[in-house]
Amino acid sequence: MTPLHFNTLALHAGYNPKEHGHAGVPPIYQTAAYIYDDAEYPADLFDLKKFGYIYSRINNPTQDVLEKRITALEGGTAALAVASGQAAQFLAITTLCEAGDNFLASEQLYGGTYHQFSVSFKKFGIEVRFFDPAHPEEILKIADTKTKAIYVESIGNPSGFIPDFDALKILKEKLGVPLIVDNTLCTPALFRPLEVGADIVLYSASKYLGGHGNSIGGIIVDGGKFDFGASDKFPGFTKPSEGYHGIVFSEVFGKNFPLGNIAFAIKARVEGLRDFGPCISPFNAFLFLQGIETLSLRMDRHIENARKLSHFLETHPAVTQVFSAENKNSPLADRAKKYFPNGSTATFSFILKNGKSAGKHFVENVRVAVHENNLGDARTIVTHPASTTHRQLSEEEQVRCGITPGLIRVSTGIEDIRDIIADFEAALV
Ligand SMILES: Cc1ncc(COP(=O)(O)O)c(C=O)c1O
Repeated sequence: MTPLHFNTLALHAGYNPKEHGHAGVPPIYQTAAYIYDDAEYPADLFDLKKFGYIYSRINNPTQDVLEKRITALEGGTAALAVASGQAAQFLAITTLCEAGDNFLASEQLYGGTYHQFSVSFKKFGIEVRFFDPAHPEEILKIADTKTKAIYVESIGNPSGFIPDFDALKILKEKLGVPLIVDNTLCTPALFRPLEVGADIVLYSASKYLGGHGNSIGGIIVDGGKFDFGASDKFPGFTKPSEGYHGIVFSEVFGKNFPLGNIAFAIKARVEGLRDFGPCISPFNAFLFLQGIETLSLRMDRHIENARKLSHFLETHPAVTQVFSAENKNSPLADRAKKYFPNGSTATFSFILKNGKSAGKHFVENVRVAVHENNLGDARTIVTHPASTTHRQLSEEEQVRCGITPGLIRVSTGIEDIRDIIADFEAALV
């Protein structure tokens, strides 16, 4: 059989009804634990000699279908579904870094990510070193032997910045570290980071993957290409694991593992998820599976609407600048066309001429769009980042993330765009 296409995989990948009572839709396995027939079977599971269900903090059949589905959509070797996008970042970084290590991150990030990296990781002795993604070559000046990863968002939230993935690929190879890409704003329907050199892909599934603003979750995808055993840079992979009976992850689950190199995903699950515990609920895993079924359809409409809305805003006298790669005259239009030929994202931002007061007036006066600090919902959402998503950042940090007082972020929904444009027209001053 020829390989299935993306839209078919979105409905079928990772699910065999015969393994689930012939249910037409992946069932919600609302269980904490699993009943064993004998004593040997769980012993083999705990020793990782066999794969099966141990306890729903570590894995669960509904979660498993979601993980297999997203693995197929991304072209990776394995995935891990977790409690939130923040949890996905946390597990990804702490699987790679130990106290004393550092990682390099683009400064154009979602505010919560920026804060997690710059403030909370410090408590674990893990240092983030930010770089300006417009100058990726800076990476070589700030990296050292303790650098364990490069981290970017495929499209910065909310700055809209698109990194030069070709340059990042060369740089990460030079440093011998994995490239992690948070692909939340694009989704695999529009962009597959593994195809341009990423090694690990992260999602806040709470956004477009779920698509209906009803649940929080995160995903980590292991691309299976990074050989953690190639050097002694990652002792957590090449030395016997203290947390797992002396197993050497890169030897057992690395490039010679029959199911593909899943060393990163398995370590993140059996050490990270097991010990820190940010597991996804089976119900949320089910909702994300539902969302993914219509992902392409929704993204097509999101993009079509975003193009119309950003063109409208570009010519509006109350607006000084629109940061959308969907606009032909965006400085990032060529890069967007290269990496995102089918559209980049429907989340973009714009600056109001009359600054903070106009921003406040706008978010308080939209009637169809909703004023929230979420994105990726079927409904159009407007956000004032300076007072919400990036509020915990200092003014200087806000500027680094591309946040100014009059900046509005819009997550364009799938409504009739004429109603959204009329709504914006009435609220802009
Ligand atoms: C790009 C990006 N990454 C990560 C996150 C964090 O995800 P979550 O809210 O699911 O923890 C967000 C949340 O807005 C985001 O926009």
